[in-house]
Amino acid sequence: MNTKHKPATLAVHAGKQAPPDSRPISTPIYQTANFFLDEDVQAAIQDGKRGEHYTYTRYGNPTQAAAAGKIAALEGAEAGLVFASGMAAITSVLLAYLKPGDHLAAARDLYGGTSGFLQRLESMGVAVTLFDTEDLESARRALRPDTRMVYFETLTNPLVRVADTEALARLAHEAGALAVVDNTFPTPINHRPLEWGVDLVIHSGSKYLNGHSDVICGAVAGPADKVQPVWKALLQFGGCMDPTAAWHLERGLKTLALRMERHNTNGLELASWLETHPAVDQVFYPFLASNPRLDLARRYLAGGSGMIGLRVKGGDTAAMDMLNRLELFSVATSLGGVESLVSMPLLTSHALFSAEERARLGILPGTLRLSVGIEDAGDLRRDLEAALNSINR
Ligand SMILES: Cc1ncc(COP(=O)(O)O)c(C=O)c1O
Repeated sequence: MNTKHKPATLAVHAGKQAPPDSRPISTPIYQTANFFLDEDVQAAIQDGKRGEHYTYTRYGNPTQAAAAGKIAALEGAEAGLVFASGMAAITSVLLAYLKPGDHLAAARDLYGGTSGFLQRLESMGVAVTLFDTEDLESARRALRPDTRMVYFETLTNPLVRVADTEALARLAHEAGALAVVDNTFPTPINHRPLEWGVDLVIHSGSKYLNGHSDVICGAVAGPADKVQPVWKALLQFGGCMDPTAAWHLERGLKTLALRMERHNTNGLELASWLETHPAVDQVFYPFLASNPRLDLARRYLAGGSGMIGLRVKGGDTAAMDMLNRLELFSVATSLGGVESLVSMPLLTSHALFSAEERARLGILPGTLRLSVGIEDAGDLRRDLEAALNSINR
């Protein structure tokens, strides 16, 4: 090539490497938009089997497949997909399965972005009925003959309520509907919804799965025949994951079990201690003896994660005061990273809700949400203690 081609051609074509014979330990970043369409791939496309080969990264890419395969394995699923964000995963699942005239029964206390998208679905002709995650009767009442899907979060935001996954999946199936869950808060280390009858599991991978607060991504896992329509939606709506982001996600996943172990122990230790502090009104954590649904936590969860809901005495003024006095806990909207974060639902996930709507969800004045990281629990407790001791109540 060097002798017969001009610089403009060399600049584009010279130096290309075929995949090496040696096997890298880490899956490489296949930072490519397209792949050679060899003759066998051309034949496969003609046979309608394009999905079995890599052709174009929106359709699939080995680095995406490495991350998706790990998530599927962790969830005990046959198939998995990764997405550009958790919202891309959620919207792809909902749009893959719901069309105008269908009915969706969805939990009331969903992540705000998901609730917002349900309103858009309604404007597109999908009927939506909300139910209370903790109230099976309200879920039963929400079902209709045309219900196509029952959607809920396995641990809710911000009060970490434990969903009765098996009972809700059974209700969905009795109504002839799919059971779909967002399993972002527990992760498959703490809860594996497919084992309890759920059809499809969704994640915001931006949280615990990636775990380092540096990538936005999403995932879906389930049986191959139920994931297939979601893949088609991914192709059409375009929420595919960039290979470099997929590589970061796959690397983060390698330490998921280790990180969750520490999030679980730190979460339980701090939640138990917070209950004893006089400035604290109420603590919400799955494995506290004060949790009225402790039995469900024991049944479904291997650990409570690092998410703690907390209500301080003195209402929102005291909560804001505390927020700004913390030093190790950074004030930020997200969750699930190695570093501890704190947020006020009033300012973040539930900012668009009225005070009455928040109260209905149990988010009373003074509510904070902690995402406890993997730091030393004693250091975190001293940070919380200093902030709690100095707020005006
Ligand atoms: C439970 C839950 N699901 C989904 C999402 C949306 O994910 P992403 O921000 O990755 O789009 C979030 C984001 O905060 C979330 O908390």
